[in-house]
Amino acid sequence: MDKPPERYDAHLTDFKGIAYIEGIDRYQDLYTRSIEDVEGFWAEQAREYLSWEKEWDSVLHYDFEAGNVEWFRGAVLNASFNCLDRHLGKGDNRVAYYWEGDDPAESRQVTFRELYRQVNRFAGVLKSRGVRKGDRVVIYLPMIVELPVAMLACARIGAVHCVVFSGFGSEYLTDRIRDSRARTVVTADGSSRGGSIIRLKENVDHAVQRCPDVDTVIVFDRCGLKPALDGRREIWWHEAVAQPSIPDHVAPEPMEAEDPLFLLYTSSSTGRPLGLVHTHGGYLLYAAMTTHLSFDLKPHETFWSTPDVGWITGHTYGVYGPLLNGLTSVLFEGVPRYPDFDRYWSIVAKYRVNKFYTAPTVIRLLAQHGTENVTKHDTSSLKLLGSVGQPIDPEAWMWYHQYPGRGVCPIIDTWWQTESGGHMITPLPGVAAIKPGSCSFPFMGVDPVLIDPDTGDEVRFPNQEGALFIRKPWPGMARTAFEDHERFRETYFARFPGLFFTGDAAKRDEDGYYWITGRIDEVINVSGYRMGPAEVEAALVLHPQVTESAVVGFPHRLKGQGIYAFVTLAAGSSKSDKIRKELIDLVRTKIGPIATPEAIQWADGLPKTRSGKVLRQLLQKIAAGNFDNLGDTSIISEPAIIENLIRERMGIDAS
Ligand code: PRX
Repeated sequence: MDKPPERYDAHLTDFKGIAYIEGIDRYQDLYTRSIEDVEGFWAEQAREYLSWEKEWDSVLHYDFEAGNVEWFRGAVLNASFNCLDRHLGKGDNRVAYYWEGDDPAESRQVTFRELYRQVNRFAGVLKSRGVRKGDRVVIYLPMIVELPVAMLACARIGAVHCVVFSGFGSEYLTDRIRDSRARTVVTADGSSRGGSIIRLKENVDHAVQRCPDVDTVIVFDRCGLKPALDGRREIWWHEAVAQPSIPDHVAPEPMEAEDPLFLLYTSSSTGRPLGLVHTHGGYLLYAAMTTHLSFDLKPHETFWSTPDVGWITGHTYGVYGPLLNGLTSVLFEGVPRYPDFDRYWSIVAKYRVNKFYTAPTVIRLLAQHGTENVTKHDTSSLKLLGSVGQPIDPEAWMWYHQYPGRGVCPIIDTWWQTESGGHMITPLPGVAAIKPGSCSFPFMGVDPVLIDPDTGDEVRFPNQEGALFIRKPWPGMARTAFEDHERFRETYFARFPGLFFTGDAAKRDEDGYYWITGRIDEVINVSGYRMGPAEVEAALVLHPQVTESAVVGFPHRLKGQGIYAFVTLAAGSSKSDKIRKELIDLVRTKIGPIATPEAIQWADGLPKTRSGKVLRQLLQKIAAGNFDNLGDTSIISEPAIIENLIRERMGIDAS
């Protein structure tokens, strides 16, 4: 495979006369204005991208030291109205979703009008079950049309959706139902992924047994598994929406700009998952604008963002961003390897997808299976390829560009986070040359700053690594952690007063391009999915023979990072493959397959400071097989532990 060019600029010609933002000067004008005249700039964008029932009294109030941010005070709008109602009449027979089933024989098209109809009826069902403005609704559904329907129905009545990725197991689901104090759960009997059925309703049963406050479980019949429902707490989706008492139109609830639209749980470095809160006003504006500009999407184009709606990418670029812009997109239930490794490209060809967005881990997986899987399909409709979730390595960049992209599609490497709501640093088509591996320049309104962790000063030199902070609020940012503002403040605003901490490190080169170098906290990025060590550790210690564990990330060829678990067994337990398998099964059922440890290393003891804190950075180095520079080991209470860990590590094949 050839190396990628240092600078790729063919798109500047290809997007000439087409791109919404053309040329670096135009970008710089807009960007400068967004930083210097924050209120004027965003007021203009807010009018451009959204319909407001009532405009704001003021645009922005904030206090980063307290972690408080408020956009569009006094304004009123509704997310579901903006995604659906305002498109009615003008082209409402346009397709909102091309839905493609796990089984290639199954597909359907849903127009904006049809989506509107379904959302209204489901909103009526939620109301009839007593769901009110501000109530949380947990949605645990596979990638079927009913997933955006349920989200928009919540938004319509002002309920706060909390989507839980359907690949997560019962323990995770339970935690999220509990933490969000949801009384309503929307699910399906099962989900079909890669030709096998996952029994979602069984996971819900397990969770609801431990969440007695849940009074409604609405079940969509996806797989014909026919679980017995009690007809009181548990009801079928299709029966509920067909009730004659359910109206065809439910008036959209007037929502204040700062009212919560959804909660989305994400992993942080320590402790339990954080329920990040996104709002009706700022989030929607940022979702609409980044979708429009980063992918330069035109009204007639078809967009496909592959990540599951259970993650922020699916929320912003699978649901809200495209629908707010009245765009057609693809919703795919399955996985890229089923029935074969050409599945994505067969879907691209089938729907003539123009702009495509996925994670580098998927590209690395598909690249392993040859080029013919791509070349046998007609991918000539593709004009732009997006990348998200991890740094994209040169080989993956080149393969993505040369095969699906036929050597003509630019790769838009978008850096952002669950916290940010939408793209933060990203190339824009038509603006400037792309440097493969760099996410280029900040999006409008984003003011990044790199801080030298040793001195606490701003980094001075090009290509010097620093911790990545953001200096000013942007509309898409999360506002708080559900019912735990102090944790939110501490996680994001306490490192450097007045700055938002991203958790990543980065460099800025001599041309002003940003290069993300990875997390500097303990969050592990497995295939673009974010995992907290504490969550995996909590699952491992549920095993009766485990006394302690420490989980870290380590470099993994396909996934970017894999999960590496150090496990201490109770005295007298045998370090057997049987226990290893039990531990893996435990993690898979409690959290989900994505948290499966790649390697489990037995540890007679864990390296700790005298005050009992596990030295994770040391463990990260051992897991990576990097024994040369272990740092200051004198602070460890029992130094012999390290030698044992290194000896044991040498016998493990982890890559
Ligand atoms: O470390 C960064 C990495 O993913 C983290 C955010 O994960 P999450 O909240 O799950 O959101 C993923 C989808 C936006 C970031 O802190 N990350 C995300 N995009 C990139 C990236 N690292 C490098 N390059 C990217 N383009």
